[in-house]
Amino acid sequence: MEPAISIVPVTPLIGAEVTGLDLARPLSDNELGLVRQALLDHLVLFFRGQDLTIEQHKAFGRLFGELHIHPARDRNGIEGHPEILHVKAGPESTRVNGDDWHSDVSCDAEPPMGSILRLFEVPPSGGDTLFANMYAAHDALSAPMQAFLSGLTAVHDGGPNYIDRARRAGIYKPDKVFPAHEHPVVRTHPETGRKALFVNRIFTQSIVGVTREESRAILDFLFQHIARPDFQCRFRWEKDSVAFWDNRCTLHHAMWDYYPEVRQGYRVTIKGDRPV
Ligand code: SIN
Repeated sequence: MEPAISIVPVTPLIGAEVTGLDLARPLSDNELGLVRQALLDHLVLFFRGQDLTIEQHKAFGRLFGELHIHPARDRNGIEGHPEILHVKAGPESTRVNGDDWHSDVSCDAEPPMGSILRLFEVPPSGGDTLFANMYAAHDALSAPMQAFLSGLTAVHDGGPNYIDRARRAGIYKPDKVFPAHEHPVVRTHPETGRKALFVNRIFTQSIVGVTREESRAILDFLFQHIARPDFQCRFRWEKDSVAFWDNRCTLHHAMWDYYPEVRQGYRVTIKGDRPV
């Protein structure tokens, strides 16, 4: 008999802790269905005590789609596993992965649907990840503002973030080109049909079809709005915790408050669709 699975919300708007699942073994159809539905309902799922090998981690990710290869894997990759992103910070770090609000690799033409991060080394305190519900951010806007934003697109460019990080790591290659694509400011989630704000501080550079000053003002307003604490939950990691988030309707922010302590883990990322 399968152990009882429990799904306990972290806040009413975002996040749930899932117990009773061992992600190292193949999930039954019933278990997979529960995880899929829980992700749609809670947007980010947390699991504890998951001592996964790289192969088990990748196999869990593949249950939800094809795995994505990160455009900056030369800085954060591991030998023989192009689908793994090594998230690592320590005394030598001058920046860390995801150190501001973002949706993973939103600069891609088809940004990732989801990401699954497992940490195998955590600092004695700090290093939480904050997650924010972008349906709630959209729904909290007035109807005229929603209507205005629904006609806009924005440029998401990986260059500024990835080039800065490559320079700091001493591996900057001037000829390397990072993805840059235009996406709607409000996207419709392909599975739930709900509208979510789709702009973020790491990748979104400008709003298309307005002046530079207007673009700056719109983005400044949206960047302040998406960071409202009532849209958020905060995850306290333990060794072998796993977080699985939906990049289509959430943003996240890795809190780097533990320098010079070490925090590291592996992330697999699942391919997604072109935002509409
Ligand atoms: C990331 O995948 O953006 C990093 C998240 C984290 O380290 O908590």
